[in-house]
Amino acid sequence: MQFRTESSVSAMNSFMFFLFFFSLLLLSRHHCAEVYEISPAQPLSEGQTLVSPRQVFELGFFSPNNNSGNNKYVGIWHKSIFPRKVVWVANREKPIAASDTLASLRISSKGNLELVDGKQNPLWSTNISVLSNGSAASLLDTGNFVVKDDDVGAEPLWQSFDYPCDTLLPSMLLGFNSKSGEKNFLTSWKSESDPSTGMFMVGLTPQVPSQVVVWINGSTPYWRTGPWDKSTFIGLPGANDAYTSGFRLDDNAEEGTKYYSYNSYNSYNYGDVLEYSDISSDGKLKFMNSERGEYWILDFVAQNNSCDKYAACGPFGVCKRSESPTTPICKCLKGFAPKSHQEWTKGNRTGGCVRQTKLFCETNTSQSVALRRNEDGFLKMTQLKVPDFHEYIQIPISDAPKCRTQCLKNCSCVAYAHVDNIGCLVWSKDLLDIQEFAYGGEDLFIRLDRSELGK
Ligand SMILES: *[C@@H]1O[C@H](CO)[C@@H](O)[C@H](O)[C@H]1NC(C)=O
Ligand SMILES: *[C@@H]1O[C@H](CO)[C@@H](O)[C@H](O)[C@H]1NC(C)=O
Ligand SMILES: *[C@@H]1O[C@H](CO)[C@@H](O)[C@H](O)[C@H]1NC(C)=O
Ligand SMILES: *[C@@H]1O[C@H](CO)[C@@H](O)[C@H](O)[C@H]1NC(C)=O
Ligand SMILES: *[C@@H]1O[C@H](CO)[C@@H](O)[C@H](O)[C@H]1NC(C)=O
Ligand SMILES: *[C@@H]1O[C@H](CO)[C@@H](O)[C@H](O)[C@H]1NC(C)=O
Ligand SMILES: *[C@@H]1O[C@H](CO)[C@@H](O)[C@H](O)[C@H]1NC(C)=O
Ligand SMILES: *[C@@H]1O[C@H](CO)[C@@H](O)[C@H](O)[C@H]1NC(C)=O
Repeated sequence: MQFRTESSVSAMNSFMFFLFFFSLLLLSRHHCAEVYEISPAQPLSEGQTLVSPRQVFELGFFSPNNNSGNNKYVGIWHKSIFPRKVVWVANREKPIAASDTLASLRISSKGNLELVDGKQNPLWSTNISVLSNGSAASLLDTGNFVVKDDDVGAEPLWQSFDYPCDTLLPSMLLGFNSKSGEKNFLTSWKSESDPSTGMFMVGLTPQVPSQVVVWINGSTPYWRTGPWDKSTFIGLPGANDAYTSGFRLDDNAEEGTKYYSYNSYNSYNYGDVLEYSDISSDGKLKFMNSERGEYWILDFVAQNNSCDKYAACGPFGVCKRSESPTTPICKCLKGFAPKSHQEWTKGNRTGGCVRQTKLFCETNTSQSVALRRNEDGFLKMTQLKVPDFHEYIQIPISDAPKCRTQCLKNCSCVAYAHVDNIGCLVWSKDLLDIQEFAYGGEDLFIRLDRSELGK
């Protein structure tokens, strides 16, 4: 086995050597050599690219803006599709100067994969702590760039899939490990021509069930999917079912891990259907695919309507999705009125709405439940994206009436929903980011004083 591997590698090396000189001969100085491995003896320099075994992905030096004299970076893209979509960047915070043509990506004496500039100053390194003198880097057909040492083991010592940039490829994991503190979140580029970390981040929330959220500046929510119902996110009725069927969310409470991933329609044939999902520098999360590997088609864009902007109508406001997607159509939940009529009529809906009649449970806390002939009621609303900050009732609850009872017991509970494949969700804070869909969506029950229900 060992012998076969070595002989095929050396056969490959001789073949590449031959190719290299052949192209030198033919193309003079315009050669572009492809290699399959970066080893201690074979660094990668500008003019060369590292390709995956079936030529699906390619890694090399590039400048954003169509190679027109900008800073240079080392990145990964799909080999056959133009224009190129860079799916990963090594040195996103430390570019190579445009004039430097001697930078190289090499395996250092400590077994680390590192990018050094023309003066051998390190710009980026994998920081592997295992002392290994036989490591080599290669690019897989999944787009994962791995450093391995066969003497140490088959598991990669380092892999790019653990350090996502702005793009999630099929089989990559998005999420976190709360025990180790590891986070695989996407971060946008600063601009179309600057891969350094921008304003937007995509990740999973620690909630049960979790949801995917786009944050701006690290912590302000910008968009969210709604909770996971074990097969899809319930706040995305517009997403193509065939597409979302490849979604997975693995939530392991014992391990403290939550990871989201997706797979191609056709994951057995790399190259037949290519896909990626990314966050743009202006905060748009999208899914793209390419049937024949020729060009990219937009499959789904998360923010396609003014209602998709997080909390567009403020607390206790509802955003009604419309065909005219530019201005959000806001209304207050029944039993609520604009906090500031002046701001609201001016078109500023961020202040949201406030409750008109205090809840019965708030005004009569001293009375026992049995004495309350006049307890609060619930208003049913349909086809909604349920609000943010859901709390999951852990005890088994089989139907909506039992969920109602659970909510009614606690005066902090202002709304509930019994969702198929999830169970009982309750809310105890301001109800934020509710959308009314034209189809799909969930029923939500809002707690109101009886006098409001009669109106
Ligand atoms: C980028 O370069 C390619 C070929 O080098 C060209 O076909 C394409 O039009 C260029 N795109 C832009 C935006 O300049
Ligand atoms: C490697 O370590 C340096 C210095 O501690 C750090 O700046 C850099 O981000 C690390 N690289 C990676 C890929 O984690
Ligand atoms: C690599 O390490 C092995 C075992 O530690 C050692 O036998 C070998 O000589 C080393 N090779 C080089 C090139 O340093
Ligand atoms: C995010 O940060 C930038 C720069 O500090 C600032 O201009 C922008 O207003 C912030 N946006 C939000 C929504 O906080
Ligand atoms: C955007 O929304 C419209 C309907 O409002 C829909 O027809 C269209 O397919 C959506 N586009 C994407 C890319 O999701
Ligand atoms: C919108 O209204 C809120 C209070 O409801 C206020 O704090 C905010 O400054 C207003 N924004 C604009 C742009 O007027
Ligand atoms: C609360 O209970 C008191 C008597 O205990 C009653 O007088 C009052 O009307 C009740 N308030 C409401 C809002 O029903
Ligand atoms: C009522 O709900 C709040 C918010 O979820 C929670 O903190 C509190 O413990 C609950 N109270 C009871 C008695 O269950």
